[in-house]
Order: sequence, then C-alpha cells, then structure tokens
Amino acid sequence: MSDARHDAFARQALQRASALPAALYADPAWVPRERAAVFARDWQLLARADQLRAAGDHVVGELAGVPVLAVRGEDGALRAFHNVCRHRAGPLATCDGRGARALRCRYHGWTYRLDGGLRSAPEMGEAEGFDPASIRLPEVQVEVWQGLVFAALAPRMALAELLAGIDARLGARRLDRFVFAQRISYEIACNWKVYVDNYLEGYHVPHIHPGLNRMLDYRSYRTELGRWHSLQHSPLENAGAVYGEGEALYWYVWPNMMLNVLPQRLQTNRVLPIAPDRCRVEFDYFFPPEGDPELARGDLDFSDAVQQEDIAISEAVQRGLASGSYAAGRLCPTRESGVWHFQELMREALRESRD
Ligand code: FES
Ligand SMILES: [Fe+2]
Repeated sequence: MSDARHDAFARQALQRASALPAALYADPAWVPRERAAVFARDWQLLARADQLRAAGDHVVGELAGVPVLAVRGEDGALRAFHNVCRHRAGPLATCDGRGARALRCRYHGWTYRLDGGLRSAPEMGEAEGFDPASIRLPEVQVEVWQGLVFAALAPRMALAELLAGIDARLGARRLDRFVFAQRISYEIACNWKVYVDNYLEGYHVPHIHPGLNRMLDYRSYRTELGRWHSLQHSPLENAGAVYGEGEALYWYVWPNMMLNVLPQRLQTNRVLPIAPDRCRVEFDYFFPPEGDPELARGDLDFSDAVQQEDIAISEAVQRGLASGSYAAGRLCPTRESGVWHFQELMREALRESRD
C-alpha cells in the first residue's frame, strides 16, 4: 500500500531507525486506533495471584476501556469476565473483594454464578421468552505466571510466547517467592509511550539520574531483545545495603508492563493510558518474606526519587512532542535498541490493525 501512514509504520533497521512520529504521542485521533491495535488485543497485567486465592476472591480492572473482573470459582478455576451486566450494563463489582458467593449487579440485582452464568433476575416473570440459562457474562482470557495474573481480550500470542525466555533468565529467582508490600501510583502528564520509551534506554541515566548512575556501571549496561520483551541489565555497584550485591534485571514486556528484579525485591510497573497526554504508572513493590523493613523503606525512597526525575523529563518531552517543532529524530543504535524494539512492535501492531 502506498498511503503515507503505511510508510510511517514500515519496518526500520536499528542502524537507520527514527523514533515514532510526534502525532502518535500528541494527536487524540490516534487514541482509538492504538486502543484497538494494542490494548484491545494483547495480554496485560491485571492482578496478583495472592488476591485470588479462594473461591469468590475477585479483582476489577479494565482492558481497552472494557471493565473486567477476574474471579476464583467454586471449582478452583480462575476466570475473567466483562464486568458489564447483560441487563442494562451495570457493574457487577466496583472494587476488589474476597469470598463473594455470587456476582450481584449493583443496579437491579441480577445475580450471576462465579462461572459467569446468570442465576437469577428479580421480577422478570412477565418477560416473555426470557431464559436466564442462556445469559452469560462474556469471558476474557486469563492466566497466571509466577504469581502475576494476566488477562487479554484477543491476544495475538499465547502468554507463554509473550514471556518466553524470562523464566530461563530468572533461573532460581522465583518471583512468586516475593510478598506484596504496597502500590504507589503516579499520574503523569505524558503519553504512555513517552514513559515506556524513557524506561527503555539507559542513555539518559548519566544526565537525568546522578544518584542511580553511581550505582550502575554505565559501561556494562546492556540491552537484550526478545520477540515481545526486552531486558536491560547491569551489575550493581556501590548499591550497599539497599539492593545488595548481584544483578539488576529490568524487563519491559509488551505492551505496557515492566518487571524490575533486584536481589532483594521485585517491582512490577503498569503504564495505563488515560488521555493522549496523560498516563498513570502503578508501581507494585514485593519483598522477600524474610526481608528487612529498613531496606524496603530505603528502596521505596530511592525509587521515588528516580521516578520524580523520570516524570519531570517525560512531561517536558511531552510538551516538546506536542509543540509542532518535532517530527521524528534518529535513535542511537548503541544505547536505544530497546526503544527501537518497542517502537517496532508499535509499528507492527498498527500495520496489522490496518490490514
Ligand atoms: S443492569 Fe444489572 S441488573 Fe440491571
Ligand atoms: Fe530514567
């Protein structure tokens, strides 16, 4: 095809690559297209397995604007549904909870079993041909990996394919060994992809993060590319008590998740689009069961300081992208292969959604 937009999303070799066009970060017209191509399809982190241990435990969330609900059934199976009642679209659950016996709609009380089938609908006796047994909540794909729950509306790959290679690289470091401690959310005035781009390169570390730069050995900072994820890693230097000796492993997983594994903690990040120029980033912190609360406090404080530095630059970049001054600049092949990899996945998703 020869339309200009097609050319904008053609494959690019790393050595010749330019960044994504500014319009993708700043023009509201792209939001529905991107939502359909990316968020309405592939796997996203939805919950933690520890939130869904027993029958009736449930977690609410959203995939591409569709409210969803994951729930553990009486039979022990984990399922996820559209959190949208089949009567007149009310919500079945409005917050996470434990031990529900059924899913009762908040609006008029239609009640669904934990397997998604309609069990009862009050005062519907006069409705001709109304058959509760034929009514079900639409199901969503859901799977658990290393204590993390992923869900997808119409994924282009199996979850095992999305995460292929991560288990092997983790080796003996089991992520489900860590215990959830707390979530810290940041609302940021930038497009979600600005945040992801920034995460994906260490090129900015000496300039933006002087404190972090003293802990990482910039020269031995490496990026490895997988099909659907990339890994940045570096030996820890002078990390002292907070992070311990060893290796820092920073995975980006398509489309909007990060997995930051240090010897003494796990942190997951979700980058959630809110508006063309706004996103929310959620940091979930996990520590070993035998962890030291002092070290955990030090980690939270240090991570927050680094995050504030990333927020300030990301918001400034968003203003640059929206200014009309910028088109698409060249990437640094040595230091920005992770950015290129993510942007190639974006181009691929947008090409496929057009075809
Ligand atoms: S919308 Fe759910 S019972 Fe009416
Ligand atoms: Fe940064």
